[in-house]
Amino acid sequence: MLSTPFPALTIKNKTLLPIVQGGMGVGVSAHRLAGAVASLGAMGTISSVDLRRHHADLMAQTGRSRDKAAINAANLVALDREVRAALALAGGRGMVAVNVMRAVADYAAYVRQSCASGAEAIVVGAGLPLDLPELTADFPDVALIPILSDARGIALLLKKWMRRQRLPDAIIIENPHYAAGHLGAPRLDEVHAPQYAFGAVLEATQALLDELGIARERIPLIVAGGVHDHEQARRLFALGASAVQLGTPFAVTEEGDAHPAFKRVLAGAGPEDIVTFMSAAGLPARAVRTAWLDGYLAKEEKLQRKAHARDCVAAFDCLHQCGLRDGNPKAGQFCIDTRLAYALKGDVQRGLFFRGSEPLPFGEEIRPARDLVRLILNGGRNDAADGPVRDPQPAAA
Ligand SMILES: Cc1cc2nc3c(=O)[nH]c(=O)nc-3n(C[C@H](O)[C@H](O)[C@H](O)COP(=O)(O)O)c2cc1C
Ligand code: SF4
Repeated sequence: MLSTPFPALTIKNKTLLPIVQGGMGVGVSAHRLAGAVASLGAMGTISSVDLRRHHADLMAQTGRSRDKAAINAANLVALDREVRAALALAGGRGMVAVNVMRAVADYAAYVRQSCASGAEAIVVGAGLPLDLPELTADFPDVALIPILSDARGIALLLKKWMRRQRLPDAIIIENPHYAAGHLGAPRLDEVHAPQYAFGAVLEATQALLDELGIARERIPLIVAGGVHDHEQARRLFALGASAVQLGTPFAVTEEGDAHPAFKRVLAGAGPEDIVTFMSAAGLPARAVRTAWLDGYLAKEEKLQRKAHARDCVAAFDCLHQCGLRDGNPKAGQFCIDTRLAYALKGDVQRGLFFRGSEPLPFGEEIRPARDLVRLILNGGRNDAADGPVRDPQPAAA
């Protein structure tokens, strides 16, 4: 295991390095990245959305299909293959998680399939997973980890789950000010609101745990969004974080499952190239302002004025609520599945490239995941420098 001065992260009695690779769809974090990160002793996360895109045989069957049931079935086969392949790469080290977005129509089926395929944790974002304990009741050993952005959402979820005698095994606190992809603020003008600051959410969550009589160390708090160097990680641990989750920096590692051109777009983007806008899922999102996104944003207002309900353009109905299909003028007017799939394949002209707001740890360099983990956890020193990972510290009284 790599060495670090930070306490280990413990989830379901597993001792892990206190760094998590965030789930990234479509296909950006599949078995190769998640398995590589888990094999280092950390948590690697597969994103469950539309994984058939990594499997030529499944795409041959469904790539041009208008049969929603066949597309969904192919995605469950792909998910099963990806989870098993990641577990094989991990070889019993670390933890393999699956990220399922609450906003996705086939959410419940993805959760059940992930558990049946052997995922060790289910991570749910883009909505409140109030029903996750029921959905996973047959798999009590699977860790349940919601992604939330503010103390209000955390309070709501905790109180609801406690009525079902279940607690989250960790909570990911994702700050919309920095994060990539869908953001946890309901509106674009709230993305930078002070209630999402890490310090404020960590403090309020710890006070909430005390109030509910839950020992602080029972639910590790994992912070996500903009983490890119060791000193910054040190400050976050000092504020009470139990681990850091990174998305964009892992997406551009050698093991990242997307096309090399995808990685170059993310790594080559400067602060002026990164933009927030409304996604088709009705949530604010952050991405690189590429040729397609620039063109889309120029005509967004006009498209929103003309929004009208129509059939799903891909016959896939991937989202519970889709701005394009449902004709919701407040949401994005594009097919997000198609755009993310272009990006995965490295189509720089037509793709949508999610990216966080902060600089990358290695600039434009594409490096192995191991280098990134080492940089964040011990400043890039050699493994032996800090001794073994220590047991978790008891929480301060
Ligand atoms: C390309 C990309 C795709 C993402 N897709 C998802 C997703 O499907 N589900 C999710 O919960 N988070 C998603 N995220 C967010 C990450 O898991 C992570 O929490 C976030 O990127 C952290 O911020 P950072 O990128 O600044 O490290 C995505 C991020 C990126 C870069
Ligand atoms: S039109 Fe909407 S629901 Fe249909 S595949 Fe595209 S994003 Fe998903």
